[in-house]
Order: sequence, then structure tokens, then C-alpha cells
Amino acid sequence: PSKPPTVFHWLPIIGSAVGYGNDPLNFFLACREKYGDVFTFILFGRRVTVALGAKGNNFVLGGKSTVLNAEDAYTHLTTPVFGKDVVYDVPNEKFMEQKRFVKVGLSTENLRAYVGMIEDEVDEYMNTDANFRVYGMNDINDWGMFDVVSVLQEITILTASRTLQGKEVRSKLDKTFSQLYNDLDGGFTPLNFLFPNLPLESYRRRDRANVKMTEFYVDIIQKRRQAGADSDHDMIAALIKQTYRDGTPLKDHEIAHILIALLMAGQHTSSATGSWALLHIAENPDVGEALYQEQVKHFGTPDGNLRSMTYEELRELPVLDAVIRETLRLHPPIHSIMRYVRDDVSVPPSLAAPSKDGVFVVPKGYYVLASPSVSQMDPRVWKDAQRFDVSRWTDPDGVAAQAFKAYADENGEKIDYGFGAVSKGTESPYQPFGAGRHRCIGEQFAYLQLGTLISTMIRKVELRLKDPVPAHNYHTMIVMPKKPRTILYRRRKF
Ligand code: HEM
Repeated sequence: PSKPPTVFHWLPIIGSAVGYGNDPLNFFLACREKYGDVFTFILFGRRVTVALGAKGNNFVLGGKSTVLNAEDAYTHLTTPVFGKDVVYDVPNEKFMEQKRFVKVGLSTENLRAYVGMIEDEVDEYMNTDANFRVYGMNDINDWGMFDVVSVLQEITILTASRTLQGKEVRSKLDKTFSQLYNDLDGGFTPLNFLFPNLPLESYRRRDRANVKMTEFYVDIIQKRRQAGADSDHDMIAALIKQTYRDGTPLKDHEIAHILIALLMAGQHTSSATGSWALLHIAENPDVGEALYQEQVKHFGTPDGNLRSMTYEELRELPVLDAVIRETLRLHPPIHSIMRYVRDDVSVPPSLAAPSKDGVFVVPKGYYVLASPSVSQMDPRVWKDAQRFDVSRWTDPDGVAAQAFKAYADENGEKIDYGFGAVSKGTESPYQPFGAGRHRCIGEQFAYLQLGTLISTMIRKVELRLKDPVPAHNYHTMIVMPKKPRTILYRRRKF
């Protein structure tokens, strides 16, 4: 059997690293033109077989973990940052148990408690002179401006720590914690993915920060244990109570490392998505107005104010929901999902084949890669694929929505148009949260965090764009907007 075609390259080891690293989306599209939906490229000595489209997503994300393995692909990047004995440092069955524990912490009861907390944090942030007014806001009629990524990074960590991470973390945010966080983050880059160990200061800082951060969390956990059962709605409270199937409870350092993992998993994904969402809202004042009117309709009070919302109410706002969905379609924060190939694996002929009767085999030792970015912007699936168009989700008869539905029907996919859930299957063109056993467990939390943040902001300010929506910066692990990413804002007159 033959191997999938290899992408042409001049440099033996480096291979296509430059093309892929600078702009993976266009690199994949150019390769698809030449080689079809399945091809292999060289990335610093690694052989990476890309499988595109919904069928490609299915091949990579629906594979058995004994054959297509996540921990072998990621552990060298994540274990130094998260710490030992969690996530990709343990066999998948054990991580599956840990994911189940985290789900307890993300219960509906907890999520309900978070809406008001996030509203408070965003309110306070926006009312703090140093954060917002300083950008030129003297008169209510003035337009001020802010760097959307800086603001979103700050709000994301404030709201995540107030809710999931817990009050101790929130109270330390201004001091030690932020520096430790930054040092850990400096070890979570594409360079660290390519080269697990380099004699660089950033690698040493990462390692020191992991030790310190672990101590910081273990101290909190021990104090909580001493204080006895507590009623906090956060992750530490949930994890302290969990035991593995074999009866052993979670150890302190495991809880600490899970908290670090959740912090890293949620911070850039949410802050990037929030940034892109605000950029598109600012680009489309009619979308901003529709969001505002949706708030007025649902939460307006007779005296002309807007009341707080509940979690259930937040889930029933179609414009808000569509804004987040459409943002994640155009800007999925994770553009490459990888697995290590532990055993030779055949590519399903319906995805790609060398000839009518032939079959491609991806050899053991290769990596496979799925890219939601490609299928989510595929003009064969989406009308005006490049356009930010909220109506493709809100208008059930919209041409764009129909195109997606027709695709789904044809492939026997059931689509749930409910809040934050599109498709549970592994074969779908829309998968910002991945699929299968490694699917994201932070989706509801992310929708809640982003939804509350956008609502609270849009109640207070109008947004406009200074420059066009920026291009993608692919040099960070999570796809970020390139600079400048300035948003103009003006306070609403109440
Ligand atoms: C997994 C995206 C927010 C925790 C994933 C995966 C994707 C993803 C694509 C699959 C990775 C793979 O298959 O290799 C996102 C996006 C987010 C987001 C787009 C926000 C907009 C969060 C948050 C948390 C979180 C807030 C934690 C509270 C996780 C965990 C996994 C995961 C624990 C499981 C990894 C595995 O099973 O291998 N996420 N995520 N994510 N995410 Fe998220």
C-alpha cells in the first residue's frame, strides 16, 4: 500500500516548517490544490499527515487512542507546564477519569453561580479609571480606544479566577501569581512544541514557575482540607472530593496540576475568541445594535435600566449565541489538532485513496493532523465563507444556514442548534472545540464567560473599528489578531 503524497520541499529536515508556521491555513489550502485532502509534510524532522475536511476531522478525531494517540503528540509541550501525573502525562484512561472530575466542577449549579460573578468583574474592570477611562474618555460623547487583546487577557484571567480557580487565586492576581503565570506561558509556545528542551532562560523560568505555582496551589488545597468541607462553587472544592475508580483520592499535586492545566487551556482560547468577537462587533455596528436590543428586550426594566441575567436566560439569546458561534467559525483558536501514530493506519478510501482500488496507509511514527480552520471556512460548505455573517446561524432559512444543514443531512449528522452545541459527532465541518474522546470540556464555561462578558460590555458601550479587522498571527500557540488591534468605544447614555 502507498503512503499519502509528500509536500514538495527544498530543505530536508526543516521541510515545510516556514510555510506551515507562518500561515497554516493558506499552506493547507495550497497543498490541497496540489495533493487533495490527505498529504504529508515535514516539520523539523517530524512527518505530519494532514487530513482535511469533515471526513479528515473524523479520521483524526474519531481514531482509537491506542492507534492515534494524543499524549505522545503533546506531552513534551504540556507536562513541563502543567506538571506531572495529569492530562498527557498519564495514560488516556486515567486522564479520562480526570476529565470526569473536572466536569463535576463545571456543573450547572456552579455555572449558575458564575454569571453574577463575571458581571461584577467586568463592571468593576470597566469602571476602573486605569483600565478604561484613561484612553481618552473625558466627556460621555468622546470616543476612547483600547487594545482589545490586552483588555480581554486581563478580563479573562480576572473572571476565570473569580469563578473556576477560586477566591484565593483571585486575591493574589495582582501580585505573585501574574508573574508565575507569565513565566509558565512563556513555556507554552510553538518553539516549545518543536524543541522540548533548549538551554534557554525561558525554559528555565517555565520549570521554576511550575514548581512555585504547584506550591501555591498545594498550600491553598491544604488550607481548604483543614477547614473541612466547604461550599465554594469552584474547581478546588470539586476536585478535593473526587476519587479514582480504584479508590485512591486525587493527590494535592494532581489537583494543583489540573488547575494549572485548566488555567492554560482556558486563558488564551477565551481571550482570543473574545478579542475576535469584539473586533467583529466593532466592524459591524448593526451587530452591536442587535446585541444591545436583545439585552433591552430581555432585561429592560420599566425604569429604563437593564437587570442582571441568569444562566438560563443567557442561554436563550440567539444573537449573542450566533456572534460567538460565527467568531469561532472564522477564528478557531486551535488551528491544528495532532495525534501520534502508534500503529500503521489506513486512510478511509472515502477520504482519499491513491487509485480506485488502492488505499493509503499512514505509517507508525508519523503524526496526523486535523484542522478545523479549513473545514470551517470551506467555500464548498459555507456561502461567503470568509464573511462574518451572524445571520447564517440566526436565520433558519438563510442560504448559508441551509448549505450547512444540507451538508449535515447528506452525511447523517444531527445538528443541535441549542446553546453552545453544534454536533457531538466526529464528522462535522464545524469543530472549534474538537470532537471525540479529547473533545473540549470547557465549552459551556467558555460560552458563559464570553456571553456574560460581551453582554455586560455591550450594555455600557458602543464599539467601532479604527482599522480593518487584523490578520491572524500564527506565531503563538493560539491564533491571535495581529497588531494593531485597537477598538474605539463610546459610553452609552443612560
Ligand atoms: C480540549 C478548544 C476553552 C479545557 C479542547 C480541544 C479543542 C479546544 C479544539 C481538543 C484538542 C484535541 O483534540 O487535541 C477550546 C476553545 C475554547 C476552549 C475554542 C474557548 C473558546 C476551554 C476552557 C477549558 C478547556 C475554558 C477549561 C475550563 C479543555 C480540556 C480539553 C480541551 C480539559 C481536553 C483535552 C483532551 O481531552 O485531550 N479544547 N477550548 N477548554 N479543552 Fe478546550
